[in-house]
Amino acid sequence: MTENSLGKNDSLDTAIKAAQSGGEILRRYFENGVTIRNKADGGGKSYDLVSDADLESEKAVADTIRDAFPDHELLGEEDLQNGDPNAKHLWVIDPLDGTNNFAHHLPHFAVSVAYYESGVPIAGAVYNPIREDWFTAVRGEGAFHNGTRVKVSEAATLNQSMIGCGFYYDRGKMMRATLAAVAECFENDIHGIRRFGTASLDLCQVGNGSFDAFFEYKLSPWDFAAGVLFIQEAGGRVTTATGEDLPLQSTTILASNGKIHDAMLDITSRHALNQ
Ligand code: IPD
Ligand code: CA
Ligand code: CA
Ligand code: CA
Repeated sequence: MTENSLGKNDSLDTAIKAAQSGGEILRRYFENGVTIRNKADGGGKSYDLVSDADLESEKAVADTIRDAFPDHELLGEEDLQNGDPNAKHLWVIDPLDGTNNFAHHLPHFAVSVAYYESGVPIAGAVYNPIREDWFTAVRGEGAFHNGTRVKVSEAATLNQSMIGCGFYYDRGKMMRATLAAVAECFENDIHGIRRFGTASLDLCQVGNGSFDAFFEYKLSPWDFAAGVLFIQEAGGRVTTATGEDLPLQSTTILASNGKIHDAMLDITSRHALNQ
């Protein structure tokens, strides 16, 4: 295939195939067990976990993409962090999003694969291999949950809303900022807060209308690359937690159905660090 003949559905097909190949590895390790390590030796935190499931899934996803598009750039959480986010043809991969859930045998985790062209999201797939749950999107063609088109919710005020959030691997200022923003959400009479521990799936819950908004004070491109497209194609809005366009790099994030975005921004921007 030549560079110019890459159609949108070619990229979705490859994203699905790649997520499927990673998902099979995750399912096998989830059923049979795997040794969980922490990233403390590499300078990370003792509660930042990794396993052969993460690494082998990333390899399977990468091999599938390279088979289809050998010239494309890959950016992923484990061995692919050097990928150039500005590449013309870029695949962004989280081979196991929700490692902590996986480690504690909670069947809520995913493989996330997205294809970007010069920084623009073109196609994405988020796959929970235990529930066989697929969230897919193609630019300009909508967002689909297991093949059914979905859209964001209609909630127009915080007191009609369910809010998802995430806690980055930080037990200091960022943790306290998140908790302060959560407290303020409750003060606005939201229906509830949920923290499920898999950012890619959290974002898809905004796209399919289960969450009215989601925020986290630090996510990486592999956490959100596919989910952002899913939300946009479902009619929602995604910015940083302080209202700027989302960069394809580590960032704060606020995703919503659009209708409650400004009300949420009022909260998330006030508690974001360096404000
Ligand atoms: C993490 C999960 C979690 C989020 C963290 C992420 P990982 O990804 O998405 O929900 O709160 O910020 O780093 O490490 O399990 O791939
Ligand atoms: Ca992740
Ligand atoms: Ca991961
Ligand atoms: Ca991780």
